[in-house]
Amino acid sequence: MLRCLRVAPLSLRANLHSSVHPWSAAAQRAVAPPEDFNDRAFKEYFPGPCNYRQQYNESVHNGDEFWTNVANELHFRRRSGKGLEYNFDHRKGEVFVKFMDGSITNVAYNCLEKNIISGMGNKVAYKWEGNVKGDACEITYSELRDKVVEFARVLKSRGVKKGDVVALYLPMIIDLPVAMLACARIGAIHSVVFAGFSSNALAERVKQAGAKVLVTCDGFYRAEKYIPMKQIADDAVKVCEDAKHPVESVLCLEHLKTVTRPSHTTDKALIRDEENFEFAVNDAKDVFAPVEWVQAEDPLFILYTSGSTGAPKGVVHTTAGYMTTAYYSQKVTFDAQANNDVYWCMADCGWITGHTYGVYGPLLNGMTSVLFEGVPSYPDYSRTWEIVGKHKVSKLYTSPTAVRSMMAHPEEMVTNYDRSQLNIIGTVGEPMNPCAWKWLHEVVGERSCAIVDTYWQTETGTHLLTAHHSAVPQESSCGNLPFHGIVPALLDENGKKVKGPGSGTLVIEKAWPGMMRTLWGDYERFVNTYFAPFPGYYFTGDGAKRDAENHYWVTGRVDDLMNVSGHLLSTAEIESALAANPNIVEAAVVATPHDVKGQVPYAFITMPEGQVMTPEIEKEMRATVRQRIGAIAVPDVIQFTPGLPKTRSGKIVRRILRKVAEGERNADLGDITTLADDTVIAELWSHRPENA
Ligand code: WT7
Repeated sequence: MLRCLRVAPLSLRANLHSSVHPWSAAAQRAVAPPEDFNDRAFKEYFPGPCNYRQQYNESVHNGDEFWTNVANELHFRRRSGKGLEYNFDHRKGEVFVKFMDGSITNVAYNCLEKNIISGMGNKVAYKWEGNVKGDACEITYSELRDKVVEFARVLKSRGVKKGDVVALYLPMIIDLPVAMLACARIGAIHSVVFAGFSSNALAERVKQAGAKVLVTCDGFYRAEKYIPMKQIADDAVKVCEDAKHPVESVLCLEHLKTVTRPSHTTDKALIRDEENFEFAVNDAKDVFAPVEWVQAEDPLFILYTSGSTGAPKGVVHTTAGYMTTAYYSQKVTFDAQANNDVYWCMADCGWITGHTYGVYGPLLNGMTSVLFEGVPSYPDYSRTWEIVGKHKVSKLYTSPTAVRSMMAHPEEMVTNYDRSQLNIIGTVGEPMNPCAWKWLHEVVGERSCAIVDTYWQTETGTHLLTAHHSAVPQESSCGNLPFHGIVPALLDENGKKVKGPGSGTLVIEKAWPGMMRTLWGDYERFVNTYFAPFPGYYFTGDGAKRDAENHYWVTGRVDDLMNVSGHLLSTAEIESALAANPNIVEAAVVATPHDVKGQVPYAFITMPEGQVMTPEIEKEMRATVRQRIGAIAVPDVIQFTPGLPKTRSGKIVRRILRKVAEGERNADLGDITTLADDTVIAELWSHRPENA
């Protein structure tokens, strides 16, 4: 197994460039599902034999009608009769996307009351599993609604009104979806910040979003590590004090008293009375917090994602369109039905996957979900499968990086647990490599699960390309097909459309209801980042290749972003954190392949003449990155170099740095005649650490 793991990145690359599978391979699918396997959800929309391609054609040719029909299954207070309207070409006027503009609805109502009214009040919405085995609880749809109303009252008592921003800095506890839904209920905009982010990263996001209220908890444990959430939140609030709109109130939940502590910590969170959530609940008992009926295009949430120029981008999603596509893609990709399926999205709610496929998608479909506070490695690598067995999970949504970390351990860690109900395993975050696919298929799925890779982004809200089991042969080397309603295209370096099989920059030609509408407070950056590069198209920032049957393989970012364990990081942001160290003249960071994490940052730094790198300086630099961004961004290697490869105009030639980071001494470095000083190349190699 380990041998297999070690070759994973290489085999991945080999796969991307090998000749791709012909569609005819469908006839020889490795998995032969029963006749009606997982196409029941489809049949509701498209009676007759399941034919993904035909359905796809309908969805793009009559896009408006298609999406409006889907939206008809959801509750609207008023329907304006309008469908999908958009302009992707900034030369022709303002770039915009609207869906059902003028209609009135509420997403939280659709997630809760709509299901309760249809008789699902006693169905379990979430089965919570704590960090420590044995800490667990469940909540039904009715109970969830009660908690949401209670939370909404507290927010209202703190002056939160429709359109206000509420920052949520919480671990994976039921209160997180509760808080998200409470915002949605009263028309406030949530901005969830992943609980692994540092106080500076939190402060930056809180400031940028102009959050009125910050919700956090005392602390939590990730495996045996104690994360002092309240303390981090307090530090962040201090940083925000001079902001245009400083945080007006902090609300702190007491989580620790409800869980088993795996290790001892002497820290006790300092919670002032006015921050204590329980006191606030008591004070808000008589506050009225009814469902706020909002406009289709009112914002539902902001979620920050890395930007290639450094500052994170506040992606804005609105109400009706996001709701419609979250509902539909959840239903189709995971075959959501009103039965006893137990679904588990392993992503944290701090990322878009947790928003769309951990909260909104499953609740809109009335599903029962697992919500897991811990990590797959604690107490050991069997934890995921223990939970799958305990709750008879039938649908799992995971990531290649999680799979790679688990497959390095004995197979018994999986096979000792019941997986008899498991039938769909979705993956997201990075390209799936054949080794990880094979392990999921053979060891986890015992050849009877559909493995569905899904490609999408924070910005796209919902799936763009999927390896849906009714259309894509169940083989690791088969690419993904466009999801219903999505029209991708590949562009060459001149911005011309690539016809037929080939490779290029992945763009999307037509709007879909669930896509982002703008960047919070920065419409100009929205247009410049996503529409200006190729007028008339949405630019994904990824490269892809395509075969004659319209299967796509996403090959990775074409900009300065890297993907570490499925999380996008900006090289510029890491560089500026490193360069904050007074001993550093300049820092350049590139992504380099990693067996488990997919990619990791590798840093090159220059120092003032005569100064040498010491273990202390290196430690300081790592600490700065950890403190400014978070542990995930800390470079694997920090290499000193006397100089960086630059063009005469001063641009760093990262292509060369990538080769050095990868240790490819014989690699073709491409054209080096543009370098201001090519002796730098030999210097780079001679300073490469041996253990890199
Ligand atoms: C970037 C988006 C969507 C939720 C997780 C990440 C990469 C995502 C895949 C996949 C190849 C993938 C792309 C994309 N990516 N899924 N199935 N195959 N690459 O959301 O942080 O917005 O990152 O992740 O590079 O642009 P995100």
